[in-house]
Amino acid sequence: MWSEASACDNLNGRRCIIRIIVILIIICILIYLERGRFERKLPYLSDLYSNTWINKTISPIRNIESLKRNNGFHVVLSYYAEDLNLVAQFIRFIRNLQSIRRLNVSIIIYNKNSNISSIYLQKMLKVDVVHQLPNVGREGGTYLYHIINNYDTLADHTLFSQAGADGVSIKEVESWLVNRLEKQFTTAVGYMPLVSARWMEVYDCGRNIYNNMVRLAELWALITQTLCPPDKQTVAYRGQFLVSNKRIRRQPLRIYMYLNELITADSTHWIHTDRRSPVSKSIPSNPFFGHIVERLWTVLFNCSKSDLINKCNRDVCACFD
Ligand SMILES: *[C@@H]1O[C@H](CO)[C@@H](O)[C@H](O)[C@H]1NC(C)=O
Ligand SMILES: *[C@@H]1O[C@H](CO)[C@@H](O)[C@H](O)[C@H]1NC(C)=O
Ligand SMILES: *[C@@H]1O[C@H](CO)[C@@H](O)[C@H](O)[C@H]1NC(C)=O
Ligand SMILES: *[C@@H]1O[C@H](CO)[C@@H](O)[C@H](O)[C@H]1NC(C)=O
Repeated sequence: MWSEASACDNLNGRRCIIRIIVILIIICILIYLERGRFERKLPYLSDLYSNTWINKTISPIRNIESLKRNNGFHVVLSYYAEDLNLVAQFIRFIRNLQSIRRLNVSIIIYNKNSNISSIYLQKMLKVDVVHQLPNVGREGGTYLYHIINNYDTLADHTLFSQAGADGVSIKEVESWLVNRLEKQFTTAVGYMPLVSARWMEVYDCGRNIYNNMVRLAELWALITQTLCPPDKQTVAYRGQFLVSNKRIRRQPLRIYMYLNELITADSTHWIHTDRRSPVSKSIPSNPFFGHIVERLWTVLFNCSKSDLINKCNRDVCACFD
């Protein structure tokens, strides 16, 4: 550091003070010019990994740390305001599945409703972890958060779903869902959609009769490093699927970080100029990009061939590792 002596060798008092002031001003200008370096680019996640994510050794959430030892099967539910009886029914169903029970299931709920206490959810649903998240990015933001935070410690298989699942009602769990999890699921499954075939559709690079989503073709190119071929892709809606950690890790962490950055972006971000129609809105709690990511999982996990719907109707509804 400067001492007065080294800054002012051979100078009289007044010139010395001026020189110190000039040095201080220069330091202030440098700090001002470099301020961008200290700004936070990734909302919500920045706190967790400003420096460490490059190394892919990131499990900064302490309460999820405890799941490491038990890594057969995780269930990740994104909760907002779904009926708790229904959620409890879904959890009971999963816990009772023969095929999954022996894999040591842990259930993790991400609570995106700031009006409901996570302690209350934990008490009502008796799950392994309840973790509060800000209500941004729809269910896709929740899944990306889980993947990014646990990239190195993911369970062999993770079932992702919104807390209100297709196929589950208070009265019953529909037979196709029972069949898929009980009969079709094996530890060799890489990706399996968990919605009925009526929630699946075939797109042509982001287009079908109802949709024209240019970003899907762009993301295809980003993920596969090839242009989107016109041979049709199957999309499964609702963000309800199970996937192996191998499939997740076939894509580098930075892809998930980038998708997360866009899906959780604040309202000033250009991504919100993407809209379904000129009169609809894109806002952080319901970004249009969330609907893009909802349609992306089959591509991201390399299970988008156009015969997927047929395979699901024939009870072989999965891609295998
Ligand atoms: C990444 O890991 C290497 C070796 O373990 C270490 O030297 C480096 O500082 C780490 N980088 C960050 C950004 O944490
Ligand atoms: C389940 O847990 C038991 C006991 O902790 C352990 O021995 C077993 O390897 C685990 N199974 C899987 C598939 O993780
Ligand atoms: C939480 O409660 C406030 C005040 O009652 C209400 O305005 C808001 O919409 C509620 N939010 C959710 C997510 O239910
Ligand atoms: C995607 O799956 C196909 C089989 O359906 C396989 O041939 C191809 O190598 C996989 N691509 C990647 C990048 O893993």
